Amino acid sequence: MGKVRTAFVCQECGVSSPKWMGHCADCGAWNSFVEERHAPEGEIRARSLSASGAPRPYLEVSPDAADRQTTGIEEFDRVLGGGLVPGSVVLLGGDPGIGKSTLLLQVASRLAASNASQGRPVLYISGEESEQQIKLRGERLGVDAPHLLLFSETNLDHIVAELGKQHPRAVILDSVQTVYSPKFSSAPGSVGQVREAAAELLYFAKSTGTPVFLIGHVTKEGSLAGPKALEHMVDTVLYFEGEQHHAHRLVRATKNRYGAAGELGVFEMTGTGLEPVANPSGLFLSERADKAPGSVVVCSVEGTRPLLVEIQALVSRSNLGYPRRVALGIDTNRVALLLAVLEKRIGLALSVEDVFVKVAGGLVVDEPVADLGVVAAVASSFKGQAVQARCVLLGEVGLAGEVRAAQRAAIRVREAARLGFNRIILPAGNLPLPDENGSVELVGVRNVGEALEAAL
Ligand code: TYD
Ligand code: MG
Repeated sequence: MGKVRTAFVCQECGVSSPKWMGHCADCGAWNSFVEERHAPEGEIRARSLSASGAPRPYLEVSPDAADRQTTGIEEFDRVLGGGLVPGSVVLLGGDPGIGKSTLLLQVASRLAASNASQGRPVLYISGEESEQQIKLRGERLGVDAPHLLLFSETNLDHIVAELGKQHPRAVILDSVQTVYSPKFSSAPGSVGQVREAAAELLYFAKSTGTPVFLIGHVTKEGSLAGPKALEHMVDTVLYFEGEQHHAHRLVRATKNRYGAAGELGVFEMTGTGLEPVANPSGLFLSERADKAPGSVVVCSVEGTRPLLVEIQALVSRSNLGYPRRVALGIDTNRVALLLAVLEKRIGLALSVEDVFVKVAGGLVVDEPVADLGVVAAVASSFKGQAVQARCVLLGEVGLAGEVRAAQRAAIRVREAARLGFNRIILPAGNLPLPDENGSVELVGVRNVGEALEAAL
């Protein structure tokens, strides 16, 4: 292996320079230079992911995703698509303090305690906390695993050497932004360094079949540093969502080569770590005031899981020339569009009203199926008339006021019925449902007018 050279490469046009530059003289881009490794040819070839180095017949390749392992936390297995795949690299992103280190320490301890590890250790590498600090957290979480190794280190060369020595059964790197390769001149956390660290661990994971978790901080711009630089390299990208003011935390898979994207895990932050929430629909509806105008329950599907959520609207006379439209947890443009439909097709005089729409519990809903819920919540608040008790609304609303068929209506209906809702207003296009059961009344509607009549 020859000596590793690095160069700064413009990410816009690919021109390279031995020094960092703020402005590319070739294409004119600003702040586009990233340090990259210029490895000698032999090394690049050694890093091929193919086992034989040559093309193989499709039929002879065995799908090793079949032997998934459980992480010991069912809710986390669900987000991973049904368990941990050997050799997979999982990136866990989220705001500082949301619970990334806590969750992965819990996973590490479960993995280390499981029989499947056969005495191989789980290696928890931290560049952010000392071993004592991690231990302190572990005490709170009740971690008591003999095969868990803690390693406070930021030098990538030392980490790689240790990986070779320990033959770990799983590796956790907390966080990918704190480690640095001494071969690179740029600072830890820069795009070049972060990519290099991820590339080393990716190679380790693929060549040894060891699962690797990378923790990444979301930067101020909202992307994983560097600018989504890692998402294309790893197999699975998970984001931690949640508000500081709510105890529940959501882990969402935004990319998954081994399962459904959009899959959601629901946890609650307690004094002793993250606890899986067994009945998330119940959690999000627990504080709902029945019979209050402006409150409607819809069923959104996250990944493969149906989730009942409450949509609230408040309509009040505006004293501004330009009334306010505020939406939390739902797209503002979508709300504006639905208000226009209500105004034009139903004749509600909303142009002199302030309208506030909110998804309760700090959740974000981006499915069009929630449209009918928003429309009903706004109409209900405007008229000061509560939506019928134990009623769920489903359906996308078009500009002509028509209600369009919802995807996966059957599982939504089943979830609503499970939680005791007995009247479901849904697009007529979805009827009849294949496995209708008698306990719920299904009301098919063709347009917004019919839906409001049935709901209010
Ligand atoms: P942490 O996992 O350190 O966040 P991250 O690694 O994403 O930055 O979580 C820290 C927060 O979680 C902190 O505010 C304290 C809280 N917490 C609990 O409420 N209960 C617990 O048992 C633990 C370990 C942390
Ligand atoms: Mg942390």
